[in-house]
Amino acid sequence: MYKRKIDDRWSFKEANTKEFTHCYHNYPAMMIPQIARTLIEEYKPEGRLRLIFDPYMGSGTTLVEASLAGIDSIGADLNPLARLMGKVKTTHYNYESVLRQFRVMQSELIFYSEDKVIERNFDRISNYSFWYDEKTLLKLSFLSQLIKDAEDKDFFNIALAETVREVSFTRNGEFKRYRMNKDSIAKFNPNTFNLFEKKVLRNLEGLKTYNECANKVAASIYDFNSTNDIPSNIIADNAVDMVVTSPPYGDSRTTVAYGQFSRWANEWFNFENARNLDRLLMGGKKSKEELFKTESIREVLDEIDSLEHKRYLEVISFLNDYYLSIQHVAKTVRSGGVVCYVVGDRRVKDVQIPLDYFTAEMFEKCGYKHHITLVREIPNKRMPSKTSPTNKVGAKVSTMSHEYIVILKKS
Ligand SMILES: C[S@@+](CC[C@H](N)C(=O)[O-])C[C@H]1O[C@@H](n2cnc3c(N)ncnc32)[C@H](O)[C@@H]1O
Repeated sequence: MYKRKIDDRWSFKEANTKEFTHCYHNYPAMMIPQIARTLIEEYKPEGRLRLIFDPYMGSGTTLVEASLAGIDSIGADLNPLARLMGKVKTTHYNYESVLRQFRVMQSELIFYSEDKVIERNFDRISNYSFWYDEKTLLKLSFLSQLIKDAEDKDFFNIALAETVREVSFTRNGEFKRYRMNKDSIAKFNPNTFNLFEKKVLRNLEGLKTYNECANKVAASIYDFNSTNDIPSNIIADNAVDMVVTSPPYGDSRTTVAYGQFSRWANEWFNFENARNLDRLLMGGKKSKEELFKTESIREVLDEIDSLEHKRYLEVISFLNDYYLSIQHVAKTVRSGGVVCYVVGDRRVKDVQIPLDYFTAEMFEKCGYKHHITLVREIPNKRMPSKTSPTNKVGAKVSTMSHEYIVILKKS
């Protein structure tokens, strides 16, 4: 139907995925930078390549790769933490100046005492004494206090954002908010300042190589929701030459919980929608019927519906949003432009949903022609690889072992 090609070259098993500013902050389901890089190199459209668009930019991998390639880019995400990451990762801060600011902070950290902390109100953080030790909260507050005096606040806030999550009582290696058990909490004694300092130094190394290699092009970041609309004053129809993106695979509740993962930082910085982000993301609102017409995954949807109607409704809630978003994204691309969507093969009730077929089909309805779908293994993505779709203990099925890079051209 829509031709798939298994290609081991796209697995990038040995690749360093943390080069340049890609090392700044972890994020769920990050795209491997080498994927964006190779797509831009090998699948770029003929003729003009001045603007790359990522409608679900997450931590900004595509935007960083666009600037390394010397191309302007636009990214959008509903998650404020993701937007902060994207902004900081694409900014050419002056290395020497950031280092000087950091040395000033370090000299203050040496003489830390709790009575120096000014902001002691943590009400913006839900249930804060459940998630944090009081001493840790005061140290975090002191870091924020020092950052307020720095010139390049956001550079330091990115290091703080990661620290805020890592020193909380959330279980390591989970995207969702699960508290550690009592024994683990009793033993948990993170060195807040040291963690922050290590992150700043790591990020400074990334900044140095980014400044050496990346071009000073525009990387613009927005909070629009492409499911509803793409404002034409931001991206005019036919303005984009290439789309490189990895959309969510399903709603945040049953797949990857971007909002829960980001809540520590979003609440710390008092960003909007910190508490209800997952409901705003694709598939967050329940639909009752399909808005699209599909042949490519008709049988799959019917099968899930026959197994459990509730799960079917969850799936189509996501697909409705995804379909609307594709319609809006499709309009922004010029004739001859290329779109590359990296999607997963999600399973629901042990039925595999070929999101690559659906993606290709919906774009073809918008005047695109499917070129190829490259199939790759996902070796180093932080993803829940197993789930229990039947809710039976032990009935584990692999959810995502392959990724599909769907490549289409606008006719
Ligand atoms: C798979 S992640 C993108 C990862 C990114 N490629 C990276 O390398 O970090 C999908 C992103 O889509 C965002 N998202 C979900 N629904 C959205 C919507 N309706 N509008 C904009 N962004 C949305 C999520 O917040 C998440 O950051």
